[in-house]
Amino acid sequence: MNKVAPVFVKETPWKTGDTLVQKDLANTIKRIRDLGAKGFYEGETAKLIAEQMKKDHGIITEDDLKNYKAKNRAPIVFDYKGTTVVSMPLPSSGGIILEQMLKMSAMEHIGTMKYGTLASVQLMSEVERRAFADRAKFLGDPDFVKVPVKTLVNDEYLKKRMSDYDPTKAGNSKDIKEGYIQEGEETTHFDVLDNEGNAVSTTTTLNGSFGSGIVVAGAGFLLNYEMDDFSVKPGVPNMFGTVGQEANAIAPGKRMLSSMTPTIVLKDNKPYIVVGTPGGTTIPTSVYQTIVDIIDFKLSPEDAVNFPKFHQQWLPDVIYVEKTFNKDVVAKLEAMGYKIEERGSIGRTEVIMIKDGTITAVADHRGDDGAVGY
Ligand code: DON
Repeated sequence: MNKVAPVFVKETPWKTGDTLVQKDLANTIKRIRDLGAKGFYEGETAKLIAEQMKKDHGIITEDDLKNYKAKNRAPIVFDYKGTTVVSMPLPSSGGIILEQMLKMSAMEHIGTMKYGTLASVQLMSEVERRAFADRAKFLGDPDFVKVPVKTLVNDEYLKKRMSDYDPTKAGNSKDIKEGYIQEGEETTHFDVLDNEGNAVSTTTTLNGSFGSGIVVAGAGFLLNYEMDDFSVKPGVPNMFGTVGQEANAIAPGKRMLSSMTPTIVLKDNKPYIVVGTPGGTTIPTSVYQTIVDIIDFKLSPEDAVNFPKFHQQWLPDVIYVEKTFNKDVVAKLEAMGYKIEERGSIGRTEVIMIKDGTITAVADHRGDDGAVGY
């Protein structure tokens, strides 16, 4: 007889109608009932687990169990064809790759196909292949690795993932690897307020991803790509699509035209709003809109930072709007003759507001920004 799991085993085989009495399990559940999590992770249950571990050459100790903490995590939530899907977040890959797969096959018109046909099985297999390639490369415990969740489920990214999908050809996992995730552009903004009321608003920039991509050997820092902030030729757009003329032409000793807008708004000569953001040419518009939102539209600093933004930079002659921007307003603007284009995040605005003795610090929800007080 198996001494390891006596509770599940009987001398004679189980028959229909036998009663399985699980006394040990009942006692464990009683300890959990009486002591909550401690009934499992500490005391008698923990001791029994640790003893079993020792017997079977496991490595979990009573201390490990005591230190284990269950974590509450926000679920993955997304829309799918008029429904809202709520699913498991990291450290399960499930919710994220479910979102990827549903979105990728929707892009390839899965809704026009039928169950179990060549077309649907092939498409769904190719979608699964791509999601699992991303899973292998990017996903892990978010307490240990930075996972680009927003990018992985972003429509543009998924469209690119499916760009090499060919319904007439079998894909293969040698050629189809994880997707390409571009490093963020390299501008950083931070605001600081000290307990004497001094405020600092700072924006620093390397310009594009990793600046020029060159590290100074032996010095340990990257060289920027600020030359792109010059107007290289009249009328030729830079990486942010802006054009310039002679005023910003390259010349010896001349500094390039930036869009950085670290700003402190004073009221009664004291800091009232400390604000700034990265975002290339969207920087001044983000700061402008945030200030108007707070001062004119009386929004809270949280809403001023997080509500959808828009951007017009003369050329191209387009109003860019964030994806969540009010669709009704977009339709009305289009009816007036504006060209509207959706784009990704506009800025990652940080704000400290000091009002009536209360300090509110807001970190933009668009990024992994943070606001802390000491
Ligand atoms: O100084 C400027 O305007 C640009 N170098 C800023 C670039 C930027 O914000 C890119 N990052 N998001």
